[in-house]
This record gives sequence, C-alpha cells and structure tokens, in this order.
Amino acid sequence: MSTDQQYHEYGMKTSISIVSGPSSQVLAGRIARTLGCHLADTEFSTFPDGERYLRVPGIDSCDHVAIVQSTPTDSDYISLLQLIDACDTSDRIDVVIPYFGYARQDKRFKDGESVSARALAQAITADRVFTVNIHNPDVLPYFDAPATSINAAPVVGEYIASMKLTDPMIIAPDEGALDLVQSTSENLGIGFDYMEKTRISGDEVSIKTKEPDVSGRDVVILDDIISTGGTIVETTLLLKKNGARRVFAACIHPVLVRNAVLRIFAAGVEGIIATDTLDRSVSVVTVAQLIANIFKGETIKQ
Ligand code: R5P
Repeated sequence: MSTDQQYHEYGMKTSISIVSGPSSQVLAGRIARTLGCHLADTEFSTFPDGERYLRVPGIDSCDHVAIVQSTPTDSDYISLLQLIDACDTSDRIDVVIPYFGYARQDKRFKDGESVSARALAQAITADRVFTVNIHNPDVLPYFDAPATSINAAPVVGEYIASMKLTDPMIIAPDEGALDLVQSTSENLGIGFDYMEKTRISGDEVSIKTKEPDVSGRDVVILDDIISTGGTIVETTLLLKKNGARRVFAACIHPVLVRNAVLRIFAAGVEGIIATDTLDRSVSVVTVAQLIANIFKGETIKQ
C-alpha cells in the first residue's frame, strides 16, 4: 500500500507530508515521489476581488510538513503565508522556497529603500527554511529560522556534460555568477570565464568583453536567474562576435518575464536550460533529488 493510500484510508499520521502551493506543483510532486511520502492535495482559488483562498484538506493529521512553494509573484508569496498558516497544527513545519523572489533587493542601494528580501524573509515562520541558489547568501540570516541555500550546480553540470558540446566553455555574464559557474564546471573538466556587466535599467545591461577564448567553441552562459533575458542577449551577441560556435543559455531560476524567451532565441541562442525551481517549459533539470535528500531518514513512520 502506498503512503498516500495509508494516509487516506487510515488517516494515519505520516512523519512527513509534502504540501505545495500553486507555483511548485511539479517539483513538489517529484519530491514526494522521490521520498515515497504523502503529497497533500491543496486547493486554491481567487475571490472576485482578487484575494486568494487556500485550504489543505486533511492537514490536521500530519505531524511534519514540508511546504514547497516558490515565490516568483506577490500572489505566490501570499499563498506561501497561507500554506504556513494552514499547517499550524503540525508539530514541525519546514518551508522550501525553491525560488525566493525579491532576493535581489538584498540591501539598501539608495537611501530610503526597503530591503525587500529582509521584509519578506522576516514574515516567514518555520522550523527550518530551505531555498535553492539564493541570489545572495547574505539574505539567509534574515529568516528567523535556520535557513540553507541548496546548491543545484552539480545537477546543472551533469546536464551540461551530457550535451555533447564541442570544446565547451561555461561563461558567467558577471562576476556575481562566477561562484555558480565555477562550482558547475568543477569535476567536469570544462573551462570557465566571466564577463563584466553593468546594469543600465531593469531590462538593459551592457557587457564588457574580457576577450574570452571562445572561437570555434560551444559556450554555455550560466546565471542564477534569467528574468528579462537582457543579460543573456548582450552576452550572446558578444560571444558570437568573438567567434563562439554555438551559444546556450542556462540558469537555476527561469523567471523569464515578458518576451524573454523570444529575445534570447532571436539573439542566436541554440537552447535554454533551467531547473524546475520554477515550472517552465525549459525546466529540464530537476532539483527534486537534492531537496528530497534533506528529508531522507525523516520519512520513517514514528
Ligand atoms: C542579477 O544580478 C542576476 O544574477 C541576473 O543576472 C539577472 O537577474 C538577470 O536579469 P535579466 O535576465 O533581466 O538580464
């Protein structure tokens, strides 16, 4: 009998239940399947005035819940708060926010600004918080609960290694992505470099060349987030000018707003590779196993 059947037929307390909101249904399903544990069938809808409604049927009989909900939009953040509230009868609440929105406003860049990442992190009540490749690890202490950023670089690296690229190279579009690129190329024997980016506006950047040695090579541009696609577009144009053979765009979090996908392909990119921290058509690399690993050994019935 599956854990799901046990839960429904006997109303037994499972030691962990995965509870997802609207934004992380696929990933939550994959995590539950990997762990072989119960997956709650959360209900959510929107009232006529735009307010959100959320219910997790049967949650009262769960001792330990792992809420999985990315927050790419304000509404998803509201759903996360509602999920935490709905689970308040559980003895233990772990919160997994695969993509934590607002993490880029991690400090006060200008006088009077809200440190949005801090404001949002502080409203999360949980026993533990997990996220994936947070934009800046300095945000983690803003959570009241112990918070950990899981590194998805190894699974992205495995995918890149399987692509049969010609004389490949991984490029960070700016110095901020260098750690990610370095840890992705580690153990793969693939060379890496980084470019210098200056942000002009929300969707405009300028990339300065450091004359990367890309002539005749397949290049993967890897960033933590692709949002408007501006960074990937400018980097691609520069790499092509420097003789790159084929250019691929990769990221952990495919935010991909507006016409980002079209812009990226129109710039000459061959393909987009991303993880499933956000559920998009380009989310070909799963972080389910990495997240499931946290809870392994915690799924045995008590
Ligand atoms: C910013 O520092 C991030 O690491 C990404 O480079 C940025 O979010 C990408 O944004 P866009 O796709 O809009 O250029």
